[in-house]
Amino acid sequence: MWEMVNNRRVLFGENRIDEIPGILKWYGLKKVFFASFNSNPAIRQRICEGLEAEGIDYVIYNKIKGEPDLTVINEGRDVFVEEKCDCTLALGGGSIIDAAKTIGMMATNGGLVEQYQMEGRQVTQVPPFFLAVPTTAGTGAEATKVAVVKNNHNGLKKSLYHNTMIADVVILDPTVAVGMPKRLTAATGMDALSHAIESYVSLNATPISEMNGLQGIRLIKESLEVAYNQPEDLKARANMLLASYFGGCAISAGIGIAHIMAQPIGAMYDIPHGDACSIFLPLAMEYNLDHATEKYAKIAEALGVAEHGAPAKENALAAIEEVKRIRKSIEAPDSLKSYIGDKPVDLDFMVETVQKTTGHVACNPRKIDEQTFRNIFNLAL
Ligand SMILES: [Fe+2]
Repeated sequence: MWEMVNNRRVLFGENRIDEIPGILKWYGLKKVFFASFNSNPAIRQRICEGLEAEGIDYVIYNKIKGEPDLTVINEGRDVFVEEKCDCTLALGGGSIIDAAKTIGMMATNGGLVEQYQMEGRQVTQVPPFFLAVPTTAGTGAEATKVAVVKNNHNGLKKSLYHNTMIADVVILDPTVAVGMPKRLTAATGMDALSHAIESYVSLNATPISEMNGLQGIRLIKESLEVAYNQPEDLKARANMLLASYFGGCAISAGIGIAHIMAQPIGAMYDIPHGDACSIFLPLAMEYNLDHATEKYAKIAEALGVAEHGAPAKENALAAIEEVKRIRKSIEAPDSLKSYIGDKPVDLDFMVETVQKTTGHVACNPRKIDEQTFRNIFNLAL
């Protein structure tokens, strides 16, 4: 038994962002809450000029600099309400999209984000119209109903979600992603690859999530290294936006031990999410190897490294080696060492934090216990 939640409309292709004002106008929307950070000033300006030409008012909210926390979201909700906005537009990476997703939900539901995140407050009202334009290719946040929020009180990163929080319209326009810095391309690409692989081997995988995951893996193989080495390559950027989108569609089926470790440890040591995924993904595959052998062999096919007629385990191992090769080729991190530095490692606290924040233990193909966290953490050092 399963279900899935999808966007209502997805526009793919170069310069599709120019259609934003017309879409908002069709829905009769009058004032946009425009969440975007200052890293895309030219694109933002272009969108604003389009809105002005259609007589649509907007307020720019540019306080979301990194992964969103309680303050930035609660303040954003106040701005949305005080400015009488009637829709949300997000231009940015996963942090901006997740923040906008949450701010819109709170604009109609009221309260503080921590109530939804920690205290079980329920979403009861439909959020305003929400249009998301991802500028990085990794989180797939535009394709999910989930938002990851950092809780300033306890330092934990925790998700909140509702079926109605998913973006109504998504625009995948490679012209907004060209020129993305190499480090960001690598980190977000490894995040997308982690979503595709972990959801594919999830015990809750569905026929649709598997299809999305495999297609994401194929596109990443074809285009991540190209996007990394040739940042202006529009085809590679388009493929990576699609791969990230497919990964986002797939993760509703669950993620595994790489993300279970990456999320809290990333928060503890201030590691960008994609870098943390890069460190943990091959370790996760090795841990799961004997419990998802056939599926890893299929992943090897998607990565173009499977040998026809070879035993599944041989191909599964080839998939792990290929992930490591791609990671090395794009200079993505393979160890926690440089992030931890001289900071003391409190393994007990780390294990406790991981256990407190994770909601996906049950869908990892191999059973996970406290010792698993310790072993994988030590292997990542
Ligand atoms: Fe992720």
